[in-house]
Amino acid sequence: MKIAICPGSFDPVTNGHIDIIERASKMADKLIVAVLENSSKQPSFSTNERVELLKKSTTYLKNIEIVSFSGLLIDFAKKNNARLIVKGLRAVSDFEYEFQMSLINKELSPDIETVFLTSAAKYMFLSSSVIKEVAKNKGDISAFVPKKILKDVVERLSK
Ligand code: PNS
Repeated sequence: MKIAICPGSFDPVTNGHIDIIERASKMADKLIVAVLENSSKQPSFSTNERVELLKKSTTYLKNIEIVSFSGLLIDFAKKNNARLIVKGLRAVSDFEYEFQMSLINKELSPDIETVFLTSAAKYMFLSSSVIKEVAKNKGDISAFVPKKILKDVVERLSK
């Protein structure tokens, strides 16, 4: 069975993430969406909340599993017999960091490949951070997050 991993902070999941997850799910028999637990970015949503928001947003995708992980991504990939890491790339600004991550991961485990899916043009500007900024200032984020979680995200961020 071909297993792929789509890792991230997902703080919270955006329509851009969902686009990448949908496309990545077609590249493997099983896609594990892996939510980083101990992000140095001080997440706004707890690990459980981030996992639950992802689950609620992706009930229609049958070959995916949403879990959290801590430690090195490559160790998590090995433990789950995944040979493929799928990441989204929005713009050149993402490239340097992602390139570095893929190189270090390749060095740590040469058998595991990282592939990049280019973001859909309509989501190029989207990030969890900008969504949080807009929501905290009472702006409309309905075009940026899945409908199923809009209420949860808005309520949580306007607290
Ligand atoms: O959504 P993000 O914040 O861009 O996701 C980044 C993530 C979770 C993919 C990355 O930070 C990660 O893989 N973290 C786990 C630690 C690790 O393996 N780092 C690479 C070696 S330094």
